[in-house]
Amino acid sequence: MKNVPEPYRIKMVEPIRLINREEREQKLVEADYNVFALRAEDVFIDLLTDSGTGAMSDAQWGAMMMGDESYAGSRSYYRLIDVCQKIFGHQYISPAHQGRGAENVLFPLLIKEGQVVVGNMHFDTTKAHIELKGGHAVNCIVEKAYDTSDGSPFKGDMDLEQLERLVKQHGPGQIAFILITVTCNSAGGQPVSMANIRAVKAVADRFGIRLFLDAARFAENAYFIKQREAGYADKNISDIVHEMFSYADGFTMSAKKDGLVNIGGLIGIREDETLANLVRANLVPTEGFPTYGGLAGRDLEALARGLVEVLDEHYLAARIGQVAYLGNLLLAAGIPIQQPVGGHAVFVDAGTFLPHLPSEQFPAQALTIELYREAGVRGVEIGSFLLGRDPVTGEQLVSPLEFLRLTIPRRTYTDNHMRYVAESLINIFQQRDRVRGVRIVEEPPVLRHFTAKLELIS
Ligand code: F0G
Repeated sequence: MKNVPEPYRIKMVEPIRLINREEREQKLVEADYNVFALRAEDVFIDLLTDSGTGAMSDAQWGAMMMGDESYAGSRSYYRLIDVCQKIFGHQYISPAHQGRGAENVLFPLLIKEGQVVVGNMHFDTTKAHIELKGGHAVNCIVEKAYDTSDGSPFKGDMDLEQLERLVKQHGPGQIAFILITVTCNSAGGQPVSMANIRAVKAVADRFGIRLFLDAARFAENAYFIKQREAGYADKNISDIVHEMFSYADGFTMSAKKDGLVNIGGLIGIREDETLANLVRANLVPTEGFPTYGGLAGRDLEALARGLVEVLDEHYLAARIGQVAYLGNLLLAAGIPIQQPVGGHAVFVDAGTFLPHLPSEQFPAQALTIELYREAGVRGVEIGSFLLGRDPVTGEQLVSPLEFLRLTIPRRTYTDNHMRYVAESLINIFQQRDRVRGVRIVEEPPVLRHFTAKLELIS
């Protein structure tokens, strides 16, 4: 499906404001050149994340008024469970307040001290939760994921040979579980093919290892399978989703993405009742009683609708089409980006964009700062600044890719906004040799990118 307009129209608007260049300059100084420290009202177009930043439908807002706020056994909980069982085909479903809450509940039940969790490419909070539980998070993605100019259709796939090698090297008993992230955020929102999920499942079965999905962007992944994988063009999105989840023993999900809600998460367990009971027991002291899992009844209602709305193929075509639209404007101007364009974001290859800045001057952070200064647009760095230091030696690690991520919230901005973002970046590209690198002046020991202070290098 090409050039499908959005299957909705706008009923409510939220004003945004572009402050002038001098003010933006001042805000950057006050924020110590860390865009996480900016006030959102000083941002014109906010492409920091697609997480919890989308717009809900009138049906979702209407449903929120019908939320049952009972502590235990809420009607809204049963509605959500019913919807999830139908969509995912997993018998046991638990709500959580967001993705990392779900990880925090499930992972200690699966990981023993020293075990390895192999994934295509773990998201940073997911990696943190694996490590907090005493595990080692190992990435095992196909090599071409690291080549931004390689146009292969499924750059989120796991490397099957490396997977087998890892299993044999550590021994199957030392692999806590395999985790496939769909779509693979850290690799640029790249999809995973059904063939690859099936093949990983075969390896997992052969060695008696469990397979889980990190399913934050499950519907976008299903849409790519329909578009790109032989044999799926005539299947509907629901059937593709059902098949994807049929290979998994369970899943965690940040519902703030394809759940089309501002807050929420899920844990699914396909059939292991013992594990599902342990999940419920773990929920109580962490997220909350199992029938609300850290959410209000109204949040459960909104999620129950969002999960159905996201399966609409016209919606997905417009959504992924908008991300591709921005990507293609940049490509046409010669700006290097991760190709093909991913599902939720355009990943600008800042290392290639700013060849005069070495990785220790954080080129992607430099470009993020410049884009805010130039246009009031907030993107986010996914590179060496995010990666941090070697925990043992304290040395700065070098990320294989230095990305500026332009993350597109769902149902929120128009193509006109996308054109403005593209024009702003193209402007910078034409005078890119003027962009200055940055150095860190203050940083916390972990997850530093949220709070570190930086300065420009003169
Ligand atoms: N897994 C993936 C693949 C994610 O992208 C995220 C969040 C999480 C887990 C954690 O979920 O935020 O609900 O706790 N990604 C956001 C982002 C924050 O900007 O990419 P959460």
